[in-house]
Amino acid sequence: MPDGKLAIYPGTFDPITNGHLDIIQRSRFLFHSVVVAVTTNPAKKPLFSVEERIAMIRTCVADQHSISVESFDGLLMNYAVGKQADVIVRGLRAITDFEYEFQMALMNRKLADSVVTVFLMPNEKYTYLNSTIVKEVARFHGDVSSFVPKEVNSILIKKFKTP
Ligand code: PNS
Repeated sequence: MPDGKLAIYPGTFDPITNGHLDIIQRSRFLFHSVVVAVTTNPAKKPLFSVEERIAMIRTCVADQHSISVESFDGLLMNYAVGKQADVIVRGLRAITDFEYEFQMALMNRKLADSVVTVFLMPNEKYTYLNSTIVKEVARFHGDVSSFVPKEVNSILIKKFKTP
């Protein structure tokens, strides 16, 4: 484990899925500390507030001292440089992720080349999984219990409960 390396794992996490948790666990093996950073960008029209998203992630990583959870405003690289981070972690599930991630990583490197983007691949069982598809299934009362942590599953069920 490289001594003292700080990694930031940024995202929307609306909500956190088992795929995100897989990336967090892999990051733990590589970096001394990992900050899961939730964007406050309202343009993404999230289902859950920043506070709700942070609370869900905190519940999932409560017993892991090297992991913290925060929100950030504005440009990721301003936040990363402010925290003196070494690394940005992004998950890469399939080739469809590549173009967007490649563009973002290169732009981020232009903005601050002291911070290195690394891509981690989650277990292949999460290849098709993302928060949008989980919300879509949960909205129509489909079972998403094997795709999200159990606390998140309960919150989704409550959110989409028909009165
Ligand atoms: O989970 P997501 O939605 O794929 O995460 C995307 C995120 C939040 C990492 C990205 O949109 C981001 O970094 N937003 C902050 C604004 C920013 O820095 N934009 C320029 C990226 S090149």
